[in-house]
Amino acid sequence: MPTGTGPAHDRPASLDSLSRVTAPHADHRCAVVVLVSGSGTNLQALLDATADPGYGVCIRAVGADRCDIEGLARARRAGIPTFVCRVADFPTRADWDVALAAHVAAYEPDLVVLAGFLKLTGEVFLARFGGRTVNTHPALSPSFPGMHAPRDALEHGVKVSGCTLFVVDDGVDSGPIIAQTAVPVQDDDTAASLHERIKVAERALLVDVVGRMAREGFTISQRKVSIP
Ligand code: GRF
Repeated sequence: MPTGTGPAHDRPASLDSLSRVTAPHADHRCAVVVLVSGSGTNLQALLDATADPGYGVCIRAVGADRCDIEGLARARRAGIPTFVCRVADFPTRADWDVALAAHVAAYEPDLVVLAGFLKLTGEVFLARFGGRTVNTHPALSPSFPGMHAPRDALEHGVKVSGCTLFVVDDGVDSGPIIAQTAVPVQDDDTAASLHERIKVAERALLVDVVGRMAREGFTISQRKVSIP
């Protein structure tokens, strides 16, 4: 169980300062909210890992920006509370961001995991959860940010791609890198086949690294993320 400087939600969101996640809740596990937009296989990997109390993570809720997705169904089957916060239900993107932050805050997470969440979080969300929101990207950052990373990597002709776990900042897949795994590109790869192979690596990386962050804490100094 990590120890640190105090409840994570009381700290400023600056990525320039030293930041550290703690697990202040009664069951001593790190409280996590996961946000999804799709099939939720990364979420499922985390759900499976949390079956072991020693993993150190309690998923308090799963949120989505859309209804009727397998990611939400996976959460419901696991008995985890869910919420939906759709951009279309708010007058502006900024209003949606405020509502999303409020939904997440209601579960008092130590850590927020974006697992295939296809929206950029905004200013209010980052003011509250910056420095303790992580995201997974199916490319070796800083190459190929954005929604079509496997396709873009293939079109560029790279021989090695992979996945990146990073701390979310106000850019597109641009935050401090926590961990990466390389995945070789095969001659006959399509964007879909490459993405599927990357996702295998992505799930393993997410489970391994989020667990270590939860159990041991982490620090961010400038762009360098360290798990003790
Ligand atoms: C992952 O490759 C993630 O990096 C990308 O979308 C995919 C989500 O997969 N943004 P899943 O919903 O976890 O199956």
